[in-house]
Amino acid sequence: MSRLVKKEILVTPKGTRDLFSDELFIRKKIHEKCREIAEYYGFQEIQTPHFEHSEIFEASLGAASDIVEKQMYTFRTRGGDQLTLRPEGTVPIVRAYFEDGMLSWPQPVMLYYVGSFFRHESPQKGRFREFGQFGLEILGEDLAVAEATIIRIFSLILKELGLEAALELNTIGDKECRPAYRKDLIAYYRKHVNYLCKDCKRRLKENPLRLLDCKEESCVELKKNAPQMIEYVCDNCKAHFKEVLDFMDAAEIPYSLNPYLVRGLDYYTRTVFEFVIPPKTPEEKRMEIGGGGRYDYLGDLLAGKPLAAVGGAFGVDRLSELLKEKDGFAEGKRPKVFLIQLGEVAKKKSLCLIEEFRKAKIPLAQSLSKDSLRGQLRLASKLEVDFSLILGQKEAMDGTIIIREMDSGVQEIIPFPKVIDRIKTKAKN
Ligand code: HAM
Repeated sequence: MSRLVKKEILVTPKGTRDLFSDELFIRKKIHEKCREIAEYYGFQEIQTPHFEHSEIFEASLGAASDIVEKQMYTFRTRGGDQLTLRPEGTVPIVRAYFEDGMLSWPQPVMLYYVGSFFRHESPQKGRFREFGQFGLEILGEDLAVAEATIIRIFSLILKELGLEAALELNTIGDKECRPAYRKDLIAYYRKHVNYLCKDCKRRLKENPLRLLDCKEESCVELKKNAPQMIEYVCDNCKAHFKEVLDFMDAAEIPYSLNPYLVRGLDYYTRTVFEFVIPPKTPEEKRMEIGGGGRYDYLGDLLAGKPLAAVGGAFGVDRLSELLKEKDGFAEGKRPKVFLIQLGEVAKKKSLCLIEEFRKAKIPLAQSLSKDSLRGQLRLASKLEVDFSLILGQKEAMDGTIIIREMDSGVQEIIPFPKVIDRIKTKAKN
């Protein structure tokens, strides 16, 4: 038969990958932990479509943001609609808040989401074109306790996954105080315009705050002497930020202030935060594993209605990379017991035994399609199980089963109905 597709396209598209085995196991563990803590704190899950009308992202993420400028997967449908694969989750959730009548629910509305997002970026370590996020949003709340809740949950998730990251905080002011800062920032960068990268020269006209987010070396250098927002914030923003910091102290969440933290999206106002893994060597870049902030103008921008809100999202692929580096994290999924069966009667009895183990919540591996002892033992050692159960013809007839300790090779014969209790006892020792 001749092949119908070229070899080059029999691979996942750049920046995407298949998820299975340990990789998928770790992701599930992350999702479980995120869901468990978010639900305990009163967040309910929301699932929005994987694509939305392009305009809602174009209008709200910022014309000069990397996402709108170069990273959106936008397409025209056969019906003529212009749609975009969601590059992030906050805008769709604000859209849903208004569309689905959440305005009339008791406020604040607390939502969480888990899923895939899409950005056309250059793939590298921890950066994909389809990537996972876990996000939290609190809609309809202007108090600083909302920021505190989101950050607290994020730090709890990291702690319970056994991960450490540095928390950086900043305030970028509001409509009252940001214009004066913007003006001085433009004046500063105009003086040094020749040192700016091509993108930043353009950003200077469209959104000067974006310059603080540029990763180009010359722009990073210039940033060091740029004016800092904290010097410009109005009394209201200052008081709000102080409250956020007081909450951090009360909850004993360590943080540092990063006066140049602006985040890559335009909808933020007041508090912004990021969880980062600092570089271990001078060549390494810092890795942002999660971030968010307050976005009190997004409701007005999208629906013409005021909505105080705050949220944040973790990059699940990045959490997963970190966990993969940790010894033994994928250990938990390893079954500790392997069932070997020999002969027709034993095979039939095995089906009931597997079910008994499932009910007892003891992971058990088996290969009912294999017949030979050697083949099944080989598989058991490959899976590195602690015990093999051997159900041969003789055992199946006389109502017994053999438990073999894989490390020592020591075997014992026990009555068939006692096998689960015996394994439980042995596993404890
Ligand atoms: P973001 O900072 O653009 O924020 O993304 C959040 C996290 O997603 C990042 O910190 C990073 O870990 C991960 N991430 C972003 N892009 C990629 C990629 N290409 N590959 C792998 N991981 C990636 C937002 O998306 C906001 N919606 C967060 C938010 C929620 N703000 C308020 N509410």
